[in-house]
Amino acid sequence: MCLVSGRGSNLQSLLNAFALPTSLAEIVGVVSNRPDAFALQRATIAQVDTVTVDHNRFPNREDFDAELASVVSEFKPDLVVLAGFMRILGHTFVDQYHNIFNIHPSLLPAFPGLDTHRRAIEAGVTHHGASVHYVTTALDAGPIIIQGRVPVLPDDNESRLAARVLDQEHRIYPTAIKWFAEGRLSIANDQVHVDGCPVQTLG
Ligand code: GRF
Repeated sequence: MCLVSGRGSNLQSLLNAFALPTSLAEIVGVVSNRPDAFALQRATIAQVDTVTVDHNRFPNREDFDAELASVVSEFKPDLVVLAGFMRILGHTFVDQYHNIFNIHPSLLPAFPGLDTHRRAIEAGVTHHGASVHYVTTALDAGPIIIQGRVPVLPDDNESRLAARVLDQEHRIYPTAIKWFAEGRLSIANDQVHVDGCPVQTLG
């Protein structure tokens, strides 16, 4: 199942990738922390159940996490996929689900946090990209599953670079979830292995 906060282009890539009844994975539900997230409309069009847990209704992070965990548990997911979910999850949530994936728009460990495209341009790096990783309570720091790399071009601005990275996001997220569904992922010493081989990071 997927957690979202905004426009939902990554959610759409997953809805497209796993649309068929014969698909390896099924998106059983979509939960948003924002009632106005466009991602909710995408899910509804795809006939996937949606729930909103508005974080503004909770006095603190723990209470929000507890309600979110309770809503998510109703769906009995094998995997929780953060697809543009813009809240940091604490122990209350993360300790209940061992399999949580996130996608982050940088070649982690480079540029955790926000404004990654602007920061990449300002840093003058030649390559940038996106990473799918397991979620821990440390921000954007869990074991990396797959990355997609793009060049940073001399005349790039933030939006051109973001669009190039987003194409990679839409390619690597379905791939990571297929690997999970096929049982090809394992973790040893905090490093993800695919088919028993350690993932080489690009950051
Ligand atoms: C993506 O760039 C994702 O990597 C980041 O937030 C953005 C969400 O975009 N976590 P969308 O809602 O999937 O279109």
